[in-house]
Amino acid sequence: MESFSVRELRTTDTEALLAFETRNREWFESHIDARDPAFYSLQGVADHIAGYLSDFAIGAWHPFVIVDCRQAIVGRANLKNIDLASGSAEVGYRIDQRACGQGLATLALRHLIEQAQVRWGLTQLVAFAYKENLGSRKVLDRCGFQLEQPSCNKSTGNERRFVLPL
Ligand SMILES: CC(C)(COP(=O)(O)OP(=O)(O)OC[C@H]1O[C@@H](n2cnc3c(N)ncnc32)[C@H](O)[C@@H]1OP(=O)(O)O)[C@@H](O)C(=O)NCCC(=O)NCCS
Repeated sequence: MESFSVRELRTTDTEALLAFETRNREWFESHIDARDPAFYSLQGVADHIAGYLSDFAIGAWHPFVIVDCRQAIVGRANLKNIDLASGSAEVGYRIDQRACGQGLATLALRHLIEQAQVRWGLTQLVAFAYKENLGSRKVLDRCGFQLEQPSCNKSTGNERRFVLPL
């Protein structure tokens, strides 16, 4: 069986990340919000990585990629909007369509949970997934996230909020 690992995003990932995002653009856009078209260029991705790494430097973001045994990028996972004061962050992940169904999102989310606890000392993680995104909901459920019931007077559209107390 092929082996995969999770590592931090690097400035040298520009070309590989552009290839990954371009190859999967339609797939991702069928499950999550589309990116700005300007993102899909070497400059766009270089700016994107620089932004993520500067947010990492100030402790607001922790970006990872999932790589296969040839070090090709097959997925991404991020701790987003890290708020040390409230002890909370959001999680996000996306997996290459060709690599889905092998447990990679579960591997990545478990890594984020571990980093949230060990590196950042957080007490809560939050995730947002569309109601119909059954694959993502299964991953969240498997990792212990609970669906938060929307309050009657608050419309969340098709997006659902999931919470994991740590
Ligand atoms: C959702 C996503 C991250 C799952 O990645 P993955 O690596 O395939 O996830 P895993 O293999 O860890 O687990 C997925 C599980 O959901 C199941 N699944 C996938 N699609 C499903 C569907 N339409 N209905 C029911 N179950 C489904 C898989 O069978 C698997 O369960 P199993 O291990 O018991 O067989 C991936 O499909 C993806 O990147 N989608 C596009 C971006 C996205 O939606 N990101 C999440 C935003 S909240």
